[in-house]
Amino acid sequence: MCGIVGYVGPRSALGVVVEGLRRLEYRGYDSAGVAIISDEGAMQTAKKAGRIENLDAELAELTISGSTGMGHTRWATHGAPNDRNAHPHCDVTGRIAVVHNGIIENYAELQAELEQSGVEFSSDTDSETVAHLVAAELAKTAANGGADDLATAVRTICRRLQGAFTLVLLDRDHPDSVVAARRNSPLVLGIGDGEMFLGSDVAAFIEFTKQAVELGQDQLVEITREGYAITDFYGAPVEGKRFTIDWDLSAAEKGGYDYFMLKEIQEQPTAVADTLRSHFVDGKIVLDEQRLDAGVLREVDKVYVVACGTAYHAGLIAKYAIEHWTRIPVEIEFASEFRYRDPVLNRQTLVVAISQSGETADTLEAVRHAKDQRATVLAICNTNGAQIPRESDAVLYTHAGPEIGVAATKTFTAQVSAGLIVGLALAQARGTKYGDEIAAEFRALESMPEHIAKTLEGIEDVRTLAREIADSKAILFLGRHVGYPVAMEGALKLKELAYMHAEGFPAGELKHGPIALVESGLPVVVVMPSPMGRPLLHQKMLSNIAEISARGARTIVIATEGDELAAKHAAHLIEVPAVPTLMSPLVSTIPLQVLAAEIAQARGYDVDKPRNLAKSVTVE
Ligand code: AGP
Repeated sequence: MCGIVGYVGPRSALGVVVEGLRRLEYRGYDSAGVAIISDEGAMQTAKKAGRIENLDAELAELTISGSTGMGHTRWATHGAPNDRNAHPHCDVTGRIAVVHNGIIENYAELQAELEQSGVEFSSDTDSETVAHLVAAELAKTAANGGADDLATAVRTICRRLQGAFTLVLLDRDHPDSVVAARRNSPLVLGIGDGEMFLGSDVAAFIEFTKQAVELGQDQLVEITREGYAITDFYGAPVEGKRFTIDWDLSAAEKGGYDYFMLKEIQEQPTAVADTLRSHFVDGKIVLDEQRLDAGVLREVDKVYVVACGTAYHAGLIAKYAIEHWTRIPVEIEFASEFRYRDPVLNRQTLVVAISQSGETADTLEAVRHAKDQRATVLAICNTNGAQIPRESDAVLYTHAGPEIGVAATKTFTAQVSAGLIVGLALAQARGTKYGDEIAAEFRALESMPEHIAKTLEGIEDVRTLAREIADSKAILFLGRHVGYPVAMEGALKLKELAYMHAEGFPAGELKHGPIALVESGLPVVVVMPSPMGRPLLHQKMLSNIAEISARGARTIVIATEGDELAAKHAAHLIEVPAVPTLMSPLVSTIPLQVLAAEIAQARGYDVDKPRNLAKSVTVE
């Protein structure tokens, strides 16, 4: 959601900023804009609704140059996604320009105050208030004989703002620096040689530097060519946390694929292998990145998993595994619902918060609520140093690398793997499994990248099928046990990419309503359990297939290799390797990802940038 780039250095700021915006496109946006201060000290801005190509066309008509600048991709919250509301926004004199990610919750009150003092707004956004407030603050300080300093003025204004914000500001009168501040929204700083960068995430500047600094909560940074200075909102200096980015530009490029998502689907064996790496040492599960004491895990008597979207589906699988291996009751909750229903939490509660981005506002608020209630929070996250792991007691990083496609694929299988590691770590700490049982489970887990690779080899057939059913009105997905979250994930992928009505149901629920949707020719995807692993469930699923086939549905059955009964009853069979039941989502989800991507392509949609969606949902 909203991408931000800032730059000061010897290069053309426009080039750096527009390239950075392209790399942040995956976050989701509906307009884009830039502000560059020219060498002569003029504030030059350009902004356009729609894709960055529209902004490019606008820029082609202008002559913009300068070596200090910023850019923004906007995902509309306050005000329609049009040219007028696109960022940057300037004060009435055009001295100050601001871009903003987040929501300023007290903007109405601030706007009323500004309007009373005669300010006329030129957009419908909450963000514009900041430009006027900062300009007014600078004017007030000047009138009192104070220093004409943008950073000081921004700190004063930040203390008045409520809500979530990453702000980047330029001051026409001080063209050699850029000021940025953040609360509850992301911002990282990139350190170059004689140049500095700002970005919503490191993808914004990955091609220029791998040295980065995390900006903490309620902190402000001023960058110049010479360096950077971080303070809190009261001006006290703060030491930023430096880190080295552990992936390179190629990870953020398509590498010969038409879409990032297609590349990311293929990267799943590596994503899972990298996530598992170094978590089993000398016969024991090791959670070395986390700061949790084994004693804390031993005391846990209740687990909550909180997450959104795809991460929620990964969490459901974690629930099944944790309960099965540890006998600890596990509840799973949409993060957006969690804190509003007053869940019962205490010191013995472990809250597992799953988030690829580590920025999702709903999940972040759930983490905060859990911590307020003294629960222990363990984050599963794919983004080093993001806000959710920073605020959690412990973190287990998934090592899937950057995921650019808005639809989560490799981070889902990495999250499922991480959830299984947490289950085994709890079983080990609580002694509910013997060491050799844990070792056997982990070895099975370690063989999953191979099984995923094998599944990927067989997806050509899924592509053909996808083209055949691309015109369907809707598709239903059914599953039982861990096949149910897989069914939900298959339906979510199809909704977000192909804009097609899709629902994932527990197969047993079919007769309680959804079967009314079944009509002749309706494709129904059935995720079969293995006949060896779950014979009873396998039998029941065969009955479900019979029920829907009898009503004319076209059954597409994902079944274990050699499952002759499934082969006999399916209109279309997709085989996946035989693996342990709790690990089966790691293979059975793959064909559903491919199915959704192929149907979307057949329908002519952009697979990487589905409409209305943002990769990181940083507002509640
Ligand atoms: C997945 O395809 C979606 N784009 C979405 O559901 C996503 O999983 C959800 O918004 C949670 O994001 P997070 O993992 O970054 O918290």
